[in-house]
Amino acid sequence: MKCTALVLAAGKGTRMNSSVSKQFMELDGFPLVYYALRAFEQSMVDDIILVTGQQEIEYCRREIVEKYQFQKVRCVTAGGSTRYLSVYNGLCAIQDTDIVLVHDGARPFVTDEIIERTVQAAVHYGSGVAAVRAKDTVKLVNEEQFAVQTPSRDSVWLMQTPQTFSYAKLCQAYETVLAQGLSDLTDDAMVLEAAFHEPVRIVEGSYRNIKVTTPEDMEIAAVFCRK
Ligand code: CTP
Ligand code: MG
Repeated sequence: MKCTALVLAAGKGTRMNSSVSKQFMELDGFPLVYYALRAFEQSMVDDIILVTGQQEIEYCRREIVEKYQFQKVRCVTAGGSTRYLSVYNGLCAIQDTDIVLVHDGARPFVTDEIIERTVQAAVHYGSGVAAVRAKDTVKLVNEEQFAVQTPSRDSVWLMQTPQTFSYAKLCQAYETVLAQGLSDLTDDAMVLEAAFHEPVRIVEGSYRNIKVTTPEDMEIAAVFCRK
């Protein structure tokens, strides 16, 4: 059984508000995306595809893949204008695999255990998506900014990555939603829901597996790094 990880690093990092794209910002001496690549390099996955901006391919090859000698990175390829187009480009760059793990390059603290849990679920159920239970009460809010609904906290989970699937199934789902012209799909689970109305299997992620999104997340990441 062959497993391939897509590591996404083609975003603009608008919410980080920094001059350097957040995936290349320095965290404890290394560019942010280095940590996710290292986690997969040391994991059960066979291959890694790094998806980045067209302008950043050379930099990634030289300053990250070669410099840190990541042996499993098979290719560095260009992403698209949205996350889901970046995933689609990454899927197209895979030659052959059974299982694909889609991971945000901006999540430095993914672990072996999480990676393996998602893969096992994908083998059993076709999908395995890392997530954590919401700690706060969640409200659905209308356009006038009034809270209109309170889902039971037990049923609210916050999605993380890796989001792991049978490769054939995820490709089919992406082709279906692209043909329907859908956009605004912010994670891969949504793509499966939209394409096949099929629920994905949720597995336990971790509260440490944060996505670095805003400047305060960099501060939290620096604390996690010191451990
Ligand atoms: N991503 C990508 N291609 C895009 C958009 C996002 O590969 N066109 C990647 C990001 O690099 C990141 C992950 O998807 O690793 C999660 O996206 P997000 O946290 O939203 O990152 P950005 O889109 O870069 O940030 P922002 O939304 O604040 O602009
Ligand atoms: Mg984004």
